[in-house]
Amino acid sequence: MNNAVKEEIKARLPVEDVISRYLELKRAGRNLKALSPFTNERTPSFMVSPERNVWHDYSSGKGGDIFSFVMEVEGVGFIDAMKMCAGWAGVNLDLYESKSDRELAGKTKRLKEVLELSAKYYQHALTQNPPVIDYAFYKRNLNKDSVKNFRIGYAPATGDALIKFLASRGVSEQELSDAGLLNRRRTDIFRERLVIPLSDQNGNVMGFVGRIIDDKLKDTPKYLNSPETLLYNKSRHIFGLHQAKRAIIASGYAILVEGNMDVVSSHQAGVPEAVATAGTAMTAEHLKALARFSKDIRIAYDGDAAGLKATERAIILASGIGVHLRVIADYGAKDPDDLIQQDPKLWQEAVLKPQPAMEWLMGEYAKRFDVESGAGKREYADAMLQIINSVPDEVERETYRQSLAERLKVDEKMLAKKAQALIKPVRRKIIQVKKTQVSAPQAIEEFLSLYAWIASETIDTDSKTGATLVASDLPLMAHDIGDALASHDIKLVNHIKSGKTLDVKDDVLYTRFSELVLRAESRYDGWSIDRLHQEMRMLTSKVQVEMLSTRRAEIMEAIEIAETEEDEETLELLLVEQLAIDRQIVEIKATK
Ligand code: UTP
Ligand code: MN
Repeated sequence: MNNAVKEEIKARLPVEDVISRYLELKRAGRNLKALSPFTNERTPSFMVSPERNVWHDYSSGKGGDIFSFVMEVEGVGFIDAMKMCAGWAGVNLDLYESKSDRELAGKTKRLKEVLELSAKYYQHALTQNPPVIDYAFYKRNLNKDSVKNFRIGYAPATGDALIKFLASRGVSEQELSDAGLLNRRRTDIFRERLVIPLSDQNGNVMGFVGRIIDDKLKDTPKYLNSPETLLYNKSRHIFGLHQAKRAIIASGYAILVEGNMDVVSSHQAGVPEAVATAGTAMTAEHLKALARFSKDIRIAYDGDAAGLKATERAIILASGIGVHLRVIADYGAKDPDDLIQQDPKLWQEAVLKPQPAMEWLMGEYAKRFDVESGAGKREYADAMLQIINSVPDEVERETYRQSLAERLKVDEKMLAKKAQALIKPVRRKIIQVKKTQVSAPQAIEEFLSLYAWIASETIDTDSKTGATLVASDLPLMAHDIGDALASHDIKLVNHIKSGKTLDVKDDVLYTRFSELVLRAESRYDGWSIDRLHQEMRMLTSKVQVEMLSTRRAEIMEAIEIAETEEDEETLELLLVEQLAIDRQIVEIKATK
């Protein structure tokens, strides 16, 4: 297995997600903390950095990425840990089987080129085909900007138009197939459809969605999406994110709609925060990907039964993820596009009046149960409490219970008790505690950690002196401990010395570096530069003592051997060295 698959898994599976399967994580500033699973501690010293995607356990000295964590807690090897993580991340390992990084990178690049060419071809084909132009501009009321912005095109009816075009550009059949452009009969998958590229958030084309142009066609799906490929993953893809991301960041909220055309219409109607998880049911991955841009997500699904069901599903998903979900409901049309066709202003106003998700849900459920009868009330309360229970924040849960109590005209305390009774005992994983001694180079680790942190330039300017600490200020190079550090971690030390930025693709080094930085960050944040200098000096002498002690231990062993072998000459030399070391240690400790 290669680096690419490791990276893919890590990109999809944040470290906190993996660890929260095993440990209860609590916020601690930018980091999260928990009780160490490796020792029986009472105060949490197990740290997780979502920012850096690493963990570090102070009590045992262990740390690393998701894979090393799973290896530790499950007591398995790397391959098994990776398989488990791949399962949780939804990464299909077969796709990566026996492909080297280089091969994979080359293939990805080529697929992007093929898809980009296809998008251009479809765009061009649209301009050549009056009936589709008619459909796009008059039936769907799209304007030129929208067609350009979403790169809307047309897939001709012939069944081999794209194949022929791409073949003339040197694209092989295998490449067409890998790009998801062929159907089972190995002809064009999209035909006689309006096509819109599915792109990643940077605008790279990863696939297409195609809509029939003739609504009377019945033997074919109205919308067709590209199959999943190396590039396109439907449970993660968010339609329109490339076009919407700036607006989402600027306005601080995202609007989630159901259909592709709802997104396009919304942008055209001056509401560019709209995106969709079109073509598939929403997953937690979708929500998490979107939450990276804004935690304020407003959902405006269709008003039909399927739309309501999907909204409910989204609310339940969101409550576990820490996303603030609100619902734009009863906006007075079948879907946002329909509303916009009535009047874009109506949509512009609707998106500003979202309802808190739980409130909406209470209203919806109230319609389903006969809340006038005692039995209906009980079923209604049970259903709502189950959902409320899944909200992580206690204060929020209480607020919801209160409004449920008001609705039902019952006592909140009674509902709280009922809610408690509904909680099924969760079987916590039993973690094998493997005691490992962390004799090794403790001080070296500490030194490296501080050193890496400073080199990573996360240090702010000293508020008192206005000075900034930089890596070159550090005594490492000039000092005799440089060798000790280098032999301990040669690649890392050389890297820091080089002053270059770290290549995220160098997975092992990156993780190691990040873990060291996390360790320093949680210890030294807020220290003045003076104090950091002092710490550096202290650690330098600690490292020296540690080096000398290691050497001393070796000597003591050798002395024992020399004694049993009655090798007087060697013994004498060893005793002299031992004395010298003892003297040096005393000296270092005295000058500290
Ligand atoms: P709808 O059937 O609600 O259509 O599907 P729509 O968005 O209103 O489409 P228009 O306005 O008639 O063009 C909602 C979404 O579900 C997916 C599409 O992403 C669509 O936008 N879908 C629908 C499919 O993937 N396949 C289908 O056959 C139908
Ligand atoms: Mn529609």
